[in-house]
Amino acid sequence: MTQERSYIDLAGKVAIVTGGATGIGRGIALRLAQAGADIFIADIDADAAKTMSGEVAALGPRGESGEVDVSDQAATDEMVKSALAAFGRVDILVNNAGIAGASGWPERATGSIEDWNRIFEVNVLGIVHASRSVSDHMIERRSGKIVNIASVAGRRGSPGFAHYSTSKASAINVTQAFAYELAAHKINVNSVCPGVLWTSLWHDIADRRLKIDGDPKMSGRQYFENRFENIPLGREQTPEDIGNAVAFLSSDRARNITGQALNVDGGLYMN
Ligand SMILES: NC(=O)c1ccc[n+]([C@@H]2O[C@H](COP(=O)([O-])OP(=O)(O)OC[C@H]3O[C@@H](n4cnc5c(N)ncnc54)[C@H](O)[C@@H]3O)[C@@H](O)[C@H]2O)c1
Repeated sequence: MTQERSYIDLAGKVAIVTGGATGIGRGIALRLAQAGADIFIADIDADAAKTMSGEVAALGPRGESGEVDVSDQAATDEMVKSALAAFGRVDILVNNAGIAGASGWPERATGSIEDWNRIFEVNVLGIVHASRSVSDHMIERRSGKIVNIASVAGRRGSPGFAHYSTSKASAINVTQAFAYELAAHKINVNSVCPGVLWTSLWHDIADRRLKIDGDPKMSGRQYFENRFENIPLGREQTPEDIGNAVAFLSSDRARNITGQALNVDGGLYMN
């Protein structure tokens, strides 16, 4: 048997990570880079994306970045063009960019129509746009992995947060539809459902819940930690936990897995 570098070896592969500049996207980019992949960081925050591509390069693989709003089809087309110009191929697309509402959402107890519209533009159409932008290239090469970051919120409707949970249920569903459509071309499409992670998205959720119906003396972090009692493993997840699942699904080790939604949530949901 030949000696392999590690169980998951992505050396020579190229990945695009949307929303890759911070939070979960950063954890995914670091794990994929540690497995050897070159990474294109696509984020609406151009400066943070550039800094993150430097972190990738510091690990050894090549890092590039671009300012991309995934709600805009022309921008994701340009993203794929830039990644191809820089690296010559795209093997992996991670649709991670996501939001919890339109500007000012933490001030609202339930989603406004602007929240519903913007969240669908980013969390659902963002996946559709980027997948459409990359699929011709993957189809031509009869290979590719697409991983969509959904959420455990997509498993059950969230009171006061229906716009978010509905968008994540859609992310799981569109994963299945695209997995069917692209299977003939040997392209795998899966989703990962993170549980609770202390990123800027959750800082805002905790602030909002405390402002609207919480104990004013409790900190956001305490409110977040109260969630752990429902989690069988009793702890939060980290961006690297999500990165580990994405690295596996992006590798040929997962060649016969498609259309799945993998919970990385300490056992919160067991389905
Ligand atoms: N934090 C959690 O507990 C949690 C749980 C389940 C799922 N998720 C999902 O994980 C993903 C990442 O979440 P996070 O917690 O790291 O959030 P975050 O807010 O910390 O990071 C989101 C990143 O996406 C970028 N972004 C936002 N809108 C964009 C757009 N239109 N185009 C391109 N980039 C954009 C931001 O600049 C940022 O870098 C999201 O899809 C989120 O819904 C998060």
